[in-house]
Amino acid sequence: MSQSLTILGLESSCDDTAAAVVCQTGTDPAQIRSSIVYGQADLHSQYGGVVPELAARAHAEKLDHCVRQALQEAGASLADLDAIAVTAGPGLIGGVLSGVMCAKGLSAATGLPLLGINHLAGHALTPRLTDNIGYPYLMLLVSGGHCQYLIARGSDDFVRLGGTIDDAPGEAFDKTARLLGLPQPGGPSVEAEARNGDPDRHRFPRPLLDRADCNLSFSGLKTALLRERDRIVAEKGGLTRQDRADLCAGFQQAVTDVLAAKTRRALGLYLQDNPARPTIAVAGGVAANATIRTALQSVCATAGVDFIAPPLALCTDNAAMIAYAGIERFRSGARDGLDLAARPRWPLDRVSPSLLGSGRKGAKA
Ligand code: KG4
Ligand code: ZN
Repeated sequence: MSQSLTILGLESSCDDTAAAVVCQTGTDPAQIRSSIVYGQADLHSQYGGVVPELAARAHAEKLDHCVRQALQEAGASLADLDAIAVTAGPGLIGGVLSGVMCAKGLSAATGLPLLGINHLAGHALTPRLTDNIGYPYLMLLVSGGHCQYLIARGSDDFVRLGGTIDDAPGEAFDKTARLLGLPQPGGPSVEAEARNGDPDRHRFPRPLLDRADCNLSFSGLKTALLRERDRIVAEKGGLTRQDRADLCAGFQQAVTDVLAAKTRRALGLYLQDNPARPTIAVAGGVAANATIRTALQSVCATAGVDFIAPPLALCTDNAAMIAYAGIERFRSGARDGLDLAARPRWPLDRVSPSLLGSGRKGAKA
């Protein structure tokens, strides 16, 4: 276990092209030697969402530069690496293919082992990369494409307690911004508007709180917001700045209340089987939201549970998490061949039945 490993990670499953070099000696904390992310927000902004074809082409163009830069910043060459890890799914298939083909090329040219990584496992293992925590722990993934509660028991052993049956929360933030004429990505713009708003002016629904499980739903909330917006416009002929702020605040509070309540529930379920190691971690772009983060922190504080929220750059899509997941897979003896497949869908939990939906990138789990 004292073996020192240096792994190059590649990520291209949505709208970020990323490469990173991560190393770890034995069970010491892992070190991120470089983490390069080229976002594609500008490329897609005029379309109001990610255009898969454009994303795939941009990944194919940027990956080489990204890899070169990641190696350069790490002060490493291909000869210093032990393996190449790449997101092999789930995600937009064109983008995933770009990354997998690039990684296969590198592996074929250098003879380095290839490791196909599940993108969701990358997110779910991030608390081990940042805080070196042990298994098991409870994980909440909240982003534009994912929303699920997972018990992480091993690098390839996850139990899903529940997740969204339709939209992911980030997707709901993005749609809300679109409905209110605010810029994309919607999360930060809605959060900024909400700071000046009254969260109690509109009473938005808190879906599925009447159910005892950990599943969530956000599409009805978006429809309720649309109705309120149209009601105000019909009444006054338009939205004032304050109307917009109040709508944002009410929406954000509803998402926060749902996530806090379901986290409490997930924690209850988790503690039934894991009373000795109470840690909950979050990842995903929505974890950047201060109101949501504070609410989750307070749920954990009340329950006497450790709360880990990785730095934002490691909560959102990045390749350091893929390289780190590669280190764990490499240590477990896993290796992939040049026949590694790109998978648009790839549930982390292979046992629990799949949910109805899970975000703008299609059913991910
Ligand atoms: O994890 P991420 O970078 O990409 C994936 O979706 O996989 O998350 C991006 C999502 C977007 O939907 C964005 O609107 C949301 O995270 N987001 C936020 C905030 N910052 C980003 N949502 C709420 N509040 C924020 N401050
Ligand atoms: Zn992601």
